[in-house]
Amino acid sequence: MKIKKLGVNIDHVATIRNARGEIYPDPLKAALIAEKSGANSVTIHLREDRRHIKDTDLKIIKKKLRIPLNLEMAPTKEMLKIAIKHKPNYVCIVPEKRTEVTTEGGLNLKKKFLYLKNIIKKLKKNKIRVSLFIEPKMSDVKLSKYLGANCVEIHTGKYCNYFNNKKNITSEFIKIKKSSLYAKRIGLEVHAGHGLTYKSAYKISRINYISEFNIGHFIISDSIFIGLKNSINKFKKIINS
Ligand code: PXP
Repeated sequence: MKIKKLGVNIDHVATIRNARGEIYPDPLKAALIAEKSGANSVTIHLREDRRHIKDTDLKIIKKKLRIPLNLEMAPTKEMLKIAIKHKPNYVCIVPEKRTEVTTEGGLNLKKKFLYLKNIIKKLKKNKIRVSLFIEPKMSDVKLSKYLGANCVEIHTGKYCNYFNNKKNITSEFIKIKKSSLYAKRIGLEVHAGHGLTYKSAYKISRINYISEFNIGHFIISDSIFIGLKNSINKFKKIINS
């Protein structure tokens, strides 16, 4: 079986730094520890309000990191310009609302079809792999293919919410499984992320078609207790067990 990849999202290192307006903890240090600890990529989300990662973080991390950098960004003209300037290896396009605490849902692909198609085309022209953050819905998988994306990242937030609250998770799991299978079948790389913990990641990683997991908040949270390296290693083992 192919090794499942782990992308480590380090946004919350910047969140802690910004909470005190300090210069520590340094997201670059976290990115380099992630690299050394076997992460397959590092993810940062440059939000329009710059609430965690800042433009200078993106610049320095891109310069120093040797493993691929995945930039999460809203589909805006400003972000497109930044991505083309700094050329991260991957871009994951996400919806963004100013008032949300974290990304709340997948993209509305239908509403902005032509606009998104143009952004994806420009990113790909600059040799940037493009992923779309979507709900586990067949129609969104199909639209992602029509839009020319390389990958879909299936939003696991709802599943994790149900999982943590011990609600009935079966129907959400089936949705993720079915959309992953369909995406793989039509030639899209399948990723998953949002809200994953050791336990929920184990369950989701049983779906063979998912080749990459992007995990942030739980890794940074657990690293308070066991260290970043140990948390990354634990996730790598779990998703490949
Ligand atoms: N994937 C995407 C597209 C996201 O927006 C986020 C949150 O920034 C994640 C994955 C990681 O989610 P979490 O921090 O809950 O692990």
